Amino acid sequence: MTIATITKVKTGLSGQIKIPGDKSISHRAVMFGAIAKGKTTVSGFLPGEDCLSTIRCFRKLGVEIKQDGENVEIQGVGLDGLKEPIDILDVGNSGTTTRLMLGILAARPFHSVIIGDDSIAKRPMARVTEPLKSFGAQIDGRGNGNYTPLSIRGGATKAITYTLPVASAQVKSALLLAGLQSEGVTTVTEPRLTRDHTERMLETFGVSIQREGKSISIEGGQTLTGQHIEVPGDISSAAFFLVAGAIVPESTCTLLQVGLNPTRAGIMEVLEAMGARVSIANQRMVGSEPVADITIETSQLKGTVIEGDLIPRLIDEIPVIAVLATQAEGQTIIKDAEELKVKETNRIDTVVSELSKLGATIEATEDGMIITGKSTLKGGTVDSFGDHRIGMAMAVAGLIAEQEVVIQDSKAIAVSYPTFFEHIETLINV
Ligand code: S3P
Repeated sequence: MTIATITKVKTGLSGQIKIPGDKSISHRAVMFGAIAKGKTTVSGFLPGEDCLSTIRCFRKLGVEIKQDGENVEIQGVGLDGLKEPIDILDVGNSGTTTRLMLGILAARPFHSVIIGDDSIAKRPMARVTEPLKSFGAQIDGRGNGNYTPLSIRGGATKAITYTLPVASAQVKSALLLAGLQSEGVTTVTEPRLTRDHTERMLETFGVSIQREGKSISIEGGQTLTGQHIEVPGDISSAAFFLVAGAIVPESTCTLLQVGLNPTRAGIMEVLEAMGARVSIANQRMVGSEPVADITIETSQLKGTVIEGDLIPRLIDEIPVIAVLATQAEGQTIIKDAEELKVKETNRIDTVVSELSKLGATIEATEDGMIITGKSTLKGGTVDSFGDHRIGMAMAVAGLIAEQEVVIQDSKAIAVSYPTFFEHIETLINV
């Protein structure tokens, strides 16, 4: 098992880092490039384990993909050009690969099998396989199609109108991708707005999408055309350094080219509500996504309430927001976040158990957690439980803990941020 040891920072974090490519956007660039006609090139791609799983799966579907670090070249075959795979499609730890690829495969006239790691095997898939079955696809798997391994026999599909029971960009995206290949107009309505990278990027590839409030419609039979996609920095990765900069004394850090899509940027509102000294500069568009450089300084923080429509806009940042809250005066209450239970781990349980080990005052609730600060974190041994964001949240806690923090199973961090420890070093050593 890989272990990382983090010790308290003595003189503050300073300097700047370029945040690695957005994971959600990197997955989509590969998938949409594969189903487009003609060549797609991607720069700023995130070469994390999850996105590499997407590349491997699409190669098995007959697509030629060259990847060299952050540059990817995809020889798009068009939807009709995908081939029945002779091997199982292994998604590793990636929920996004599983669910978006299911949307594509549901309408392809062949058989395929999806498996993943132990964490994927516990994650609910009925939320996507059930509506995909109503398009006309045949999907089976453990628990009546709720868990991997999943077997898919796709085919001609008919458009559906569907209201999502949970706010999930992965499910929304899967249904739009099946809709793209179906007869008629598919309309998906979400209970709360979720990340809209799929809609933005499909439009970039030449697909027409209609949005009305929380509903999105797509007409079947449209063709994607190869593009160049530049991937912005991932705000979910920047989040670890936004929190580190705010809580490590005497820090000033600048994070370059961070994606600030409003459906993702909830953490910026939380930082503001908690009183953090944060500023943005150089706002611009990278492709169809807004980006900016963000500077964060050590801050006096106060507790806040995080709930409702804000939750899907910061769902992946909650583990590190919990670390931030340990350093804020008073209570921080996180509610309406039961989706945390079905992430790479049950993140209500893992955040509460691991931060408690470090001496935080934190309690789990049915739909979130309550953190009371400001508390001194002591050191200790914690576990990532194979969850990249738990590993990184614990590393950030280690930067301010009195004694060293030992993180077990730290290699999970490479799922979304292979250069995480190097970036910590950069900010410590300037
Ligand atoms: C993602 C959507 C979110 C998020 C995940 C990436 C995506 O999941 O937590 O890390 O790329 O669409 P849900 O769709 O399950 O909310």
